[in-house]
Amino acid sequence: MSLPFDGAISAYFDTEAPEPIRAALRRADKDDILSPSYPYSEEMRGKTYDKDMAALQVELLKLQACIKTSGRRIAMVFEGRDAAGKGGTIKRFRENLNPRGARVVALPAPSDTEASQWYFQRYIAHLPAGGEIVFYDRSWYNRGVVEKVFGFCTEAQREHFFAQVPDFEKMLVEDGIHLFKFWLNVGRAEQLRRMLAREGDPLKQWKLSRIDVEGLKKWDAYSAAIQETLSRSHTPEAPWTVIRSDDKKRARLAAIRHVLSHLDYDNKDARAIGTPDPCIAGGPEIWDA
Ligand code: ADP
Ligand code: MLT
Repeated sequence: MSLPFDGAISAYFDTEAPEPIRAALRRADKDDILSPSYPYSEEMRGKTYDKDMAALQVELLKLQACIKTSGRRIAMVFEGRDAAGKGGTIKRFRENLNPRGARVVALPAPSDTEASQWYFQRYIAHLPAGGEIVFYDRSWYNRGVVEKVFGFCTEAQREHFFAQVPDFEKMLVEDGIHLFKFWLNVGRAEQLRRMLAREGDPLKQWKLSRIDVEGLKKWDAYSAAIQETLSRSHTPEAPWTVIRSDDKKRARLAAIRHVLSHLDYDNKDARAIGTPDPCIAGGPEIWDA
């Protein structure tokens, strides 16, 4: 299958990408981290990752068993630029869980009917029932970022969203839903590296869309919209957890650790969970463009 924008990512790399980004990509080894501000210079070792991940998977199963018995509800929101690793992180969370009770919600662009409804309405329909964990791969935060960057909503609609979102989330939390909001933070060169890889891989081309191709040229507009969104929706009831995602392995471990260390469940093994790395997972203050 050939895509309408076949070759568009390479064409962007060859002609429009800023020179420092191109230079960083040209000289990079496979395991090099490309963001100058990232706290480590290389990806974590595969063996360490496998061992840590295996221990965390067992803890996730204990958590699921416990919430099924107690009827608790968990909702996790995964946000981040294109190719930040949202889908991959969700996949690792769900890898060994019983899929009945661990749902992914990845909604398409709103239909005309949905666009005429209250903005939050179509997301509410997918909130967890008792015993369920729901993973939102993108969420109501589209209005804060992609809709702003691409002009899919008016300024008035966006202001209305920011006025409502703290109360909306507070209601979910007060009703007993455990809400986690993850912002996956990927650097510019790493994002481009991943998109180039997707373009060259028939198994991954489906992940590319017009939004990704056009979005590459809108890095700064995204940065401004993200900054504003994080600062206007980081509340005591529903805080953001920013995960530095240039190294996918560290990012996945950090997100899972964060959830496990914030919830109680039977037979919880604190040693298996380990200590979250504050350089990788933190509040909006660790986000950077
Ligand atoms: P993804 O990265 O989630 O696979 P895209 O990069 O194609 O998908 O789109 C990013 C987001 O923008 C998606 O959540 C999509 O629903 C949303 N989107 C695309 N077109 C529109 C539109 N016309 N109005 C509102 N949202 C849109
Ligand atoms: C991600 O990798 O962050 C998303 O799940 C896929 C995408 O970027 O389009």
